[in-house]
Amino acid sequence: MAKNINSSEYTEETMLKLDIFRKCFREWYPVFLHAPHITHLFIYDMFAGSGKDAVGNYGSPLILLQEARGENKQHCKHLYNVGKPIVVFGFNEKIRNKSIELQENIKAEQSACQEHCEYSSCPFINNIHVGAYDFQELIQNEQVNNVLSNRSYGKFVLLDQYGFKQINDEVFLKLINSPKTDFIFFIASSFIRRFKTLNAVTTYFHDNSIIFDESKPKECHRTITDYFRNLIPTDKEYYLHSFTIQKGSNYYGLIFGSNHTLGMEKFLKVCWSEDPLAGESNCNIYNDYEIGSLFYNPTSSNKKQDVSNIVKSKILNKEITSNIEGLKFVLSLGCEPKLFVDIVKELIAQNIVKIDGVFNRTSSNIHRASEYHIVLK
Ligand SMILES: C[S@@+](CC[C@H](N)C(=O)[O-])C[C@H]1O[C@@H](n2cnc3c(N)ncnc32)[C@H](O)[C@@H]1O
Repeated sequence: MAKNINSSEYTEETMLKLDIFRKCFREWYPVFLHAPHITHLFIYDMFAGSGKDAVGNYGSPLILLQEARGENKQHCKHLYNVGKPIVVFGFNEKIRNKSIELQENIKAEQSACQEHCEYSSCPFINNIHVGAYDFQELIQNEQVNNVLSNRSYGKFVLLDQYGFKQINDEVFLKLINSPKTDFIFFIASSFIRRFKTLNAVTTYFHDNSIIFDESKPKECHRTITDYFRNLIPTDKEYYLHSFTIQKGSNYYGLIFGSNHTLGMEKFLKVCWSEDPLAGESNCNIYNDYEIGSLFYNPTSSNKKQDVSNIVKSKILNKEITSNIEGLKFVLSLGCEPKLFVDIVKELIAQNIVKIDGVFNRTSSNIHRASEYHIVLK
């Protein structure tokens, strides 16, 4: 049986994971809170734990609640004044006594919050639900599925499983096919690598479609991410990015999915703030010179260089012919879109390309960027 994560102090790596959850939700929430056609927000934490670790550090459900209030309760203020969207939390923890403990922790958190609250009513008061279901049962639940498929609801789904067995192909496909749904899940990738021929693994992953490079253990989480990426239908515009967390000789990781460029822009912002070299890991996955070391290059990194080379060759081969294509392509390779703008500026300065239309430097909110075309000189 897996160790109970809440019964001791969270490790440094767990704290990093929670920090990424926090920042990811912090970026996601205001976008949907202020989206005009969204009537409800559903925030699901389906492997919620008991809420805290042994020394009182906040776990994911309390972090989500904290972030939903915002700094100085700015988001509560918005909800109080505007009255919409309706924000609903669904916290689930299979082990009953942990679920009860979570309920108590939430109650205490809510009471402490309300003690000093200037607003006469709490926007969340009747909308925090705690369950004790098995995830596989929950993900089949009709009510949950009605929420997931509703286009007027924004959904943030956090899946902090132990190990790797809960997010199978079917669950993944359900999530990527749910509209207005961004998700992030944890997966113990090096266990899959280590035990890849055992039934426990092959039951969940079709072994022959995961090929690990044994000389590059650091890349095993990326390999798992590619397994999931390959499940996405080729004609579907969808964005997936992963973040590898090394703990000793083990590699864990997070996989984030969104069907909107803005969702991925926001997640990449978080990843690049954690890993300024590659936006991908806590373990220098591309073997760059470390920040602070003698040969560190603050203007580029191996990942940025690799992606730049690919993008340049695609522009020169006319496979990328517009800024929209280029911005999305860079995003799909896990780089922030401003990299594309820098590449185009360089190619213009070198007199290699010219712009058909009006050149713009838009590198955020790229779904709203004005399109221009790139013409070879
Ligand atoms: C990695 S922990 C989650 C920790 C939590 N996110 C936190 O910040 O403290 C995974 C949790 O999922 C629960 N769990 C395990 N199997 C489950 C299942 N099939 N359905 C729902 N919960 C499950 C475990 O009891 C455990 O508390």
